[in-house]
Amino acid sequence: MASASDGWKLFLPYLSFIFVILYFTHSHFVTKLFIGSETVRIKKTPDLPLRFRSDGTFKILQVADMHFGSGIITSCRDVLDSDFEYCSDLNTTRFLKRLIEAENPDFVAFTGDNIFGPSTTDAAESMFKAFGPAMESGLPWAAVLGNHDQESTMNREELMSLISLMDYSVSQVNPWSDGLPNPTQHGITSNIDGFGNYHLRVYGAPGSMLANSSIMNLYFLDSGDRAVYQGKRTYGWIKESQLNWLRNVAIEFQVTH
Ligand SMILES: *[C@@H]1O[C@H](CO)[C@@H](O)[C@H](O)[C@H]1NC(C)=O
Ligand SMILES: *[C@@H]1O[C@H](CO)[C@@H](O)[C@H](O)[C@H]1NC(C)=O
Repeated sequence: MASASDGWKLFLPYLSFIFVILYFTHSHFVTKLFIGSETVRIKKTPDLPLRFRSDGTFKILQVADMHFGSGIITSCRDVLDSDFEYCSDLNTTRFLKRLIEAENPDFVAFTGDNIFGPSTTDAAESMFKAFGPAMESGLPWAAVLGNHDQESTMNREELMSLISLMDYSVSQVNPWSDGLPNPTQHGITSNIDGFGNYHLRVYGAPGSMLANSSIMNLYFLDSGDRAVYQGKRTYGWIKESQLNWLRNVAIEFQVTH
């Protein structure tokens, strides 16, 4: 009996010791998680799938050639002398914000030369600024590249990866296999030229007969940057591999949807 109660007396400090260790481990763990949640940003996703409105419309705002540079320090080109002093990339940002507000689109498509490589020394920063209004709007948006986007610190693959990870972006680097019979590597079609080839389904209006059907398919293709063809410097073009992918997706949709 006596030995049992002595045991408890020894056991209690031992328990508190464990408790203290657990407490510190726990708070350390929580702190780590907390620090973790501050450094690791999770991408915000838009309401998906894309779908038509009840009035049967689906409005796309297409924006091309923003030619974004470094922000306020990048002056406008081809403006009147009187405007030059006050005109910068900030005008582009303001214009885009106003367009989004005025048009209230369902989807925003950026179709190349989003940034102008020679006017920035940090492609990622320039991209974040260029797409800022789209990210702030919370609308689903997607982008492809032009021939000037990669003329700075990131190549086309890196740029498309970055864009695909931005808030509310539904852009993809290249297509997921999508259950299609073409050769794939890790679920991504590997035999396709360029970066930024993908398609997006748009579903029927909520509550309608077509609510669960993809009724419009948006295709995005990388038309490349520059190329040398028969000794001449020229622009890139859409390759046969990309058209094959497009045809396969289109055929698959005709068969199954
Ligand atoms: C845009 O450009 C004009 C000059 O062309 C200027 O007056 C205006 O303040 C600029 N800034 C913004 C943010 O729109
Ligand atoms: C679409 O799917 C939802 C959820 O599964 C279902 O409740 C609804 O009836 C379907 N609508 C049509 C038109 O098939």
